[in-house]
Amino acid sequence: MDKLIIFDTTMRDGEQSPGASMTKEEKVRIGKHLEKMRVDVIEAGFAAASQGDFEAIHAVATAVRESTVCSLARAQAGDIQKAGDAIKPAAQGRIHTFIATSPIHMQHKLRMTPEQVLVAAVDAVKFARTLTDDVEFSAEDAVRSDMDFLCRIFEAVIKAGAKTVNVPDTVGYSIPEALGERFRSLLQRVPNADKAIWSTHCHDDLGMAVANSLAAIQAGARQVECTINGLGERAGNASLEEIVMAVRVRKDLFNVETRIDATQILAASRMVSTITGYPVQPNKAVVGANAFAHESGIHQDGVLKNRETYEIMRAQDVGWNANRLTLGKLSGRSAFKVRLGELGIVLESESSLNTAFKKFKELADKKHEIFDEDLHALVSDEAVTPEIEQYRLVSMMAHVETGEEPYAKLTIADHGQEKKCEATGAGPVDATFKALESILHSHAELQLYSVNNVTEGTDSQGEVTVRLAKEGRIVNGVGADTDIVIASAKAYLNALNKMAAKHQRLNPQGD
Ligand code: KIV
Ligand code: ZN
Repeated sequence: MDKLIIFDTTMRDGEQSPGASMTKEEKVRIGKHLEKMRVDVIEAGFAAASQGDFEAIHAVATAVRESTVCSLARAQAGDIQKAGDAIKPAAQGRIHTFIATSPIHMQHKLRMTPEQVLVAAVDAVKFARTLTDDVEFSAEDAVRSDMDFLCRIFEAVIKAGAKTVNVPDTVGYSIPEALGERFRSLLQRVPNADKAIWSTHCHDDLGMAVANSLAAIQAGARQVECTINGLGERAGNASLEEIVMAVRVRKDLFNVETRIDATQILAASRMVSTITGYPVQPNKAVVGANAFAHESGIHQDGVLKNRETYEIMRAQDVGWNANRLTLGKLSGRSAFKVRLGELGIVLESESSLNTAFKKFKELADKKHEIFDEDLHALVSDEAVTPEIEQYRLVSMMAHVETGEEPYAKLTIADHGQEKKCEATGAGPVDATFKALESILHSHAELQLYSVNNVTEGTDSQGEVTVRLAKEGRIVNGVGADTDIVIASAKAYLNALNKMAAKHQRLNPQGD
């Protein structure tokens, strides 16, 4: 069987989703988990986007030893130098450089002729090779590019030293048959095609990112670029968990194998969802809450008699029910620290660990069984990782009674200084947000409010996502608590803290 390289771009393409930006610590946490899951290549970001992105890639490259760590770079010397510097500490580092090759992108976005694009691509690869041996080249919008031109540019970049060549469906335009055909044709027509690994990178605008990626694999692609939960620009990227399980469950059709430890998939999904504030829909394949739930009596009966009547993979093989019960009320600080370590969570300072442990004890008092998911939610709390903390919830009360107007009263710390506010509203959450706005005056537009339970049961923590938009910036705030009104207040403040961290980022695929 051929080896299929899993290239995870959750922290780069996934981070291009509205409001999904991640801090350095969050990227290190995700990077460590992806390493544990045995992902081959981790694209940790786009180093030229901002100083924060550069530092995050550098930190991931320092922390991760078993996977290749990669930075994206436009085909420009400045970007490539930054990417090279960011991946310097990596045990294995890759520079991924790209330029658009479709007529529409070359003419309207780049304002370059095809000849200029070809020269820029070759120069970029040659320069990147002076910084690392492992260079990948992507022809952005390859699916809408002219085949003759694609053949020329891929031949030239392979000759210049690209070891991986990527054929992205940047706008999610292809269908499986067409993408398979494009790969077969490229592999046949590019004279030095056998000197590089061919990679697929599909977006989900028509809901076919996974199907297209699988068709590319059947046609000879040996690297697949994908993200946890299918997070990514617009409709997202191909989902890692679906691809990994598809080639595993249907090995009779694909003849490739990955080195992924699939039992880590569910934890990865939960971690990414908590960090980015993108909840996973219940009917999502592999990682959705219903993925292994059988509702109809006929199905339940069948599964009880023989699991394979209705299940093509085992829930525990992708991490369901594995090691879920973690700690209890009587667990001590060292057991707590050990479990965090096992989950890939490293709290930088003693004070963060102390705050986290205090919060854990408070939670254990309310909810006697603490699961891994609770710990992920807990360390995402502002008070535990206060890198961008401006506002913090000190205390609150909310009152609801039939026939009475819901009311909320809060005390928050604004740069350490306590402030009080109160308001009434349509419900306790509305009253809470109105009270906060009455003193913080963000005037941000609330674009999304959602609540999900972190574990099962009515004593579960509720995880609230609040998406705020202001002056073109979008942020997702997340907060967790066994009380969803308190979780809502935390999420709102978390979003405002992110908004206040004036961190301007460049989108690699913008103008
Ligand atoms: O979708 C795309 O084309 C990309 C490239 C930068 C690989 O994300
Ligand atoms: Zn992409």
